[in-house]
Amino acid sequence: AEQGLEEYFESRVAGEQRIEPRDWMPEGYRRTLVRQVAQHAHSEIIGMQPEGDWLTRAPSLRRKAILLAKVQDEAGHGLYLYAAAETLGVDRADLTERLIEGRQKYSSIFNYPTLSFADVGVIGWLVDGAAICNQVPLCRSSFGPYARAMVRICKEESFHQRQGYELLLRMMAGTEAQRAAVQDAVERWWWPSLMMFGPPDADSPNTRQSMAWRIKRDTNDELRQRFVDMSVPQADRLGVTLPDPDLRWNAERGHYDFGEPDWAEFKRVIGGGGPCNAERIARRRAAHENGAWVREAAAAYAAKRAAEREA
Ligand code: 3HC
Repeated sequence: AEQGLEEYFESRVAGEQRIEPRDWMPEGYRRTLVRQVAQHAHSEIIGMQPEGDWLTRAPSLRRKAILLAKVQDEAGHGLYLYAAAETLGVDRADLTERLIEGRQKYSSIFNYPTLSFADVGVIGWLVDGAAICNQVPLCRSSFGPYARAMVRICKEESFHQRQGYELLLRMMAGTEAQRAAVQDAVERWWWPSLMMFGPPDADSPNTRQSMAWRIKRDTNDELRQRFVDMSVPQADRLGVTLPDPDLRWNAERGHYDFGEPDWAEFKRVIGGGGPCNAERIARRRAAHENGAWVREAAAAYAAKRAAEREA
């Protein structure tokens, strides 16, 4: 019977039909989805910290309001994704424990410091731009709740990227100091943005199976290339120089050739050795502990209401 179920599952995936939480699915499919969706959710929540550091120091009320809206969006993205993960039978509190204890990952990109307000613009342009390249194909992921969460997230991500690029256009039209701040931020965020797409396909243990199950629709290298091709003309328009001497248009390929990211740095950062890993986890742990009273009060209230209904 299981063999029949497996075949039916494979035919549905091959037929571009969505797999829903109550459908039969191979244990490996469920496990790799919990892994990817939970880590995606963790990335959104941790991702609130780098830009959150600039909320009290935004240069104008307008910039503060835009940044506040973006940071709040990231919290919402985390909630959609934890809810999608919970349809696979895991519990959000347990996922948070795994994040805090370092037993689950979050995106490497958030382990770098935000040193000036230009970083807010560069994160919007490059980091949210990379997230869009990575997330638009996930709107067609075979697991229904994940794909549907992506549709809403991608719409909000586009606002995130536009606000960042617009901020940079304004700064590049500003003083020499503002232009230098943007160029400095681009040099610090360019290579870590390329690493967001994961290791090269040859070193990616999950890609082959995730592509077969249509969880992923493109490989890490394909999406990285798409991001480079999209970003180079935008950098030219901005008037910034991308920190890669090997970057050049390859007419035969119809793509930009570019240099090799520092994969030793990537491994160090996802292994906990990045510039801000300890701080990001410490702040997440503190927020979780400081919020315990809210969870306890909500649980006590729910129990009281349930007892009243029973009576
Ligand atoms: N940061 C941290 N860990 C990473 C990583 C990164 N940038 N890239 C890869 N890894 C990890 C993988 O999680 C995997 O470890 P695991 O088995 O313990 O989970 C290991 O490195 C090998 O990588 P693989 O390529 O084999 O793993 P995947 O097939 O899962 O590919 C991925 C990695 C491309 C990140 C994929 O998981 C994915 O597309 N995830 C959904 C998108 C996502 O998580 N984006 C986060 C970006 S931040 C964001 O979107 C917020 C936005 O608002 C800015």
